[in-house]
Amino acid sequence: MKGLILAAGRGTRLRPLTHTRPKPVIRVAGKPIIIYAVENLLAAGIEQIGVVVSPDTRADVKAVLDSYNGAEVALILQEQPRGLAHAVRAARGWLGDSPFLLYLGDNLFEKGVTGLKESFEVAEQGTAAVLALVGVEDPRQFGVALMHEGRITRLMEKPKEPPTNLAVAGVYAFSPLIHGMIEGLEPSLRGEYEITDAVQALIDAGYLVLGRHIEGWWKDTGRAEDLLDANRLLLAGLQARVDGEVRDSRLVGRVVVERGARVRGSTILGPALIAADSLVENAFVGPFTSIGPEARVRASEIEYSIVADRASIESVATRLQECIIGVNASVSSRPGLPKAHRLVIGDESRVEIG
Ligand code: G1P
Repeated sequence: MKGLILAAGRGTRLRPLTHTRPKPVIRVAGKPIIIYAVENLLAAGIEQIGVVVSPDTRADVKAVLDSYNGAEVALILQEQPRGLAHAVRAARGWLGDSPFLLYLGDNLFEKGVTGLKESFEVAEQGTAAVLALVGVEDPRQFGVALMHEGRITRLMEKPKEPPTNLAVAGVYAFSPLIHGMIEGLEPSLRGEYEITDAVQALIDAGYLVLGRHIEGWWKDTGRAEDLLDANRLLLAGLQARVDGEVRDSRLVGRVVVERGARVRGSTILGPALIAADSLVENAFVGPFTSIGPEARVRASEIEYSIVADRASIESVATRLQECIIGVNASVSSRPGLPKAHRLVIGDESRVEIG
């Protein structure tokens, strides 16, 4: 079985972060989101991994994958962003006639994808697809499944009035039968070739499509709130470890201080991650916070936040909370008058001053 990760999307709901880099390379709990996908596929015993990129996302995704030594990954180019089924079509040559797991590169799964792969392998012969399903409170932003005795009888993409609360999570096991259905697709109302429509075509043609409820949490990291929540969920699984330097500080609970990081005169309440070569000085870092590599937090308080690589937070009087501070970004105070906010904010940024 092969694994196909999709990483060609624009991530418009995560702007401004995605103005400069694609969603799958954003770090959550210290690791780019796409690396969790690669690791989950490897853990499921899938070693032939392809990643679909766009002309826009290719360089960043390649850089992240190159710096990860765990797997050989084939990059596949999707020239235009025309939907998930279109991305699978772009990978048709690489996939050949192999069954495959389609893995949306912005989705995170607590328990990985081994269960879904196994369900497909033990399913009745002739099973065309197995979809991962999760009961959610509001399924309107997802694909939604109607089931009968383990079979999916109908699929709808983002229905206004969902008939069930069963959301389609972003990992699918497919037999090569899916390719024929993709060939016959028409674009949807939003102008995309939808994988949901291709699966519905399988059902309409009488093929067996199964749904499997997945265990553990699942997160589609579409919006800023989702990134923070994913960071929280992933940090909750940390094991305390100090590889860096800690001086005159208090570390409580599950705190990781990576190699080259320096923590001085600070209090850190876990779960929290202080990444390699960062500096935390005279600061408070509260629970569910990731401080990125080479970032600096001085004379400030921060909790439930993500601070990206090389960002800097300096002498901020009010506690920062629910913040995502991007790569190389800086937040600081400037002494003296006038007491005013001085902001240089990129397009579509969000600042809430309380
Ligand atoms: C896609 C699929 C949708 C699925 C979701 C899971 O939507 O079209 O059926 O429920 O992924 O993350 P998107 O998030 O690309 O709009």
